[in-house]
Amino acid sequence: MTELKNDRFLRALRRQPVDRTPIWMMRQAGRYLPEYRATRKQAGSFLDLCKNAELACEVTMQPLRRYPMDAAILFSDILTVPDALGLGLYFEEGEGPKFRKTVRSEADLAGLNSITAEDDLGYVMNAVSTIRQELNGMVPLIGFSGSPWTLATYMVEGGASKDFANVKGMAYDKPELMHGLLSLLADAVADYLSAQIRAGAQAVQIFDTWGGSLSAGGYKEFSLKYMQRIISRLQSDAQTQDVPVIVFTKGGGQWLNAIAGCGAQGVGIDWTTDINAARSQIGDRVCLQGNMDPTMLFASPARIREEVAAILAGFGHGSGHVFNLGHGITPGVNPDHVTAFVEAVVELSPQYHQSS
Ligand code: CP3
Repeated sequence: MTELKNDRFLRALRRQPVDRTPIWMMRQAGRYLPEYRATRKQAGSFLDLCKNAELACEVTMQPLRRYPMDAAILFSDILTVPDALGLGLYFEEGEGPKFRKTVRSEADLAGLNSITAEDDLGYVMNAVSTIRQELNGMVPLIGFSGSPWTLATYMVEGGASKDFANVKGMAYDKPELMHGLLSLLADAVADYLSAQIRAGAQAVQIFDTWGGSLSAGGYKEFSLKYMQRIISRLQSDAQTQDVPVIVFTKGGGQWLNAIAGCGAQGVGIDWTTDINAARSQIGDRVCLQGNMDPTMLFASPARIREEVAAILAGFGHGSGHVFNLGHGITPGVNPDHVTAFVEAVVELSPQYHQSS
C-alpha cells in the first residue's frame, strides 16, 4: 500500500509530536455542500449513494477538495448494520431513518439474520477499498460504526426517538433481552469494523450518539461495556490491533474517566465539555477529539476564529488533540464558514506544537 503523505491525524491519536493540530469534521460529507446534493440526486436516494462505491467515494472526496482536512471518513451510515440484520431501513424525506421491523421481544431477536460483514455488507467494503485507492496516501481513511447501544435505540424504537421510551423501558425492565440484543450487536460491530480495517480503514470511530441518554449506571452497563468488548476484540487480533479506535459518546462528559479506560486511543467530546478540564482529567491516557459547537458555524468567520483560538488555548501545548466539531455539521451551514473554521485551526495551532 502507498505510504501516507499526511499522518498528523494518526500521530495525534498516538500522542506523538505533530507540526499542527490535525482536523476533520464529523459529517464532513453532507448536505451543506452543493456538490454533495448534486451527487445524491444522481444516485437517486441516500441508500443508493451508500451502495454505489464510485459515488460514495466521490462524496468522501468532496470536502477534501475544498478544505485541508487531515482525514477522510468513509461515506456510509451507522444503520447499514441493522439493515443487514433484516430490519428494512428506509428514509422518509425530511423525517430521518425508519425501520420496517423492530426488536422488542425474544422472538424478534431470534428472527434477526445472522450476518458476516464481508458478505452481507460487501458494498461498504467495496466503498472502503475504492476510497483508499483514490486517496492514494493523501490522508488516512476513517471507518466507523454505531455503538451497540446507539444501534439498539433505532432498532427498538423503529427510528429516531425523543424520549427513548421503548428502548430504555426494555433496558430497565427486561435487561436480559437487552443484553441479548447488545451482545449480538457487539459481535456484529466487531466483525464489521475488522472487515473495514482489512479493506483499508486506518482508524475507526464508534459513534455512541445516544449513550448520553442513559443514567450513569445505565451507561456503563448498556453502552460502555459493549464498546469495550468491541475494542478488546479488535486489539486481540493481529490484523486489527494497531489501528486506533475513537469512541464518541455524545453527552458523555461526566463519565470521561470511565470512557478513557475502555481501551480506545481517542475520546470524542461534545461542546458541553470544557476541553481544558477534560485534558486534566484524561489527557495523559488518551487523545481528545473535538469540540466546537457545530452551531458556531452559523456565526461570523471572525467569531468562529475566536472560538477556535479559545479551544486551542484550552487544550494547550503539545500533541494529543484532534480538532473536530462536538457533533456532526448541520445541513444549513455556509461552506465558506467551514473554510474559516479549518483555516483558523491550520493557522493558529502551530504555536502549540513548537518544542520548547
Ligand atoms: O461523517 C461523514 O461524513 C460520514 C458519513 C456519515 C453519515 N452518517 C452520512 C449521512 C456518518 C459517520 C453517519 C453516522 C450516523 N448516522 C450517526 C452517528 C453520528 C451522528 O451524527 O450522531 C447517526 C445517529 C446516523 C443515523 C442517521 N443517518 C440519521 C439520524 C440520518 C438523518 C439525518 C438527517 O439530518 O436527515 C441519517 C442520514 C444521513 N447519514 C445523511 C448523511 C449525509 C443525510 C442523508 C441525506 O439526506 O442525504
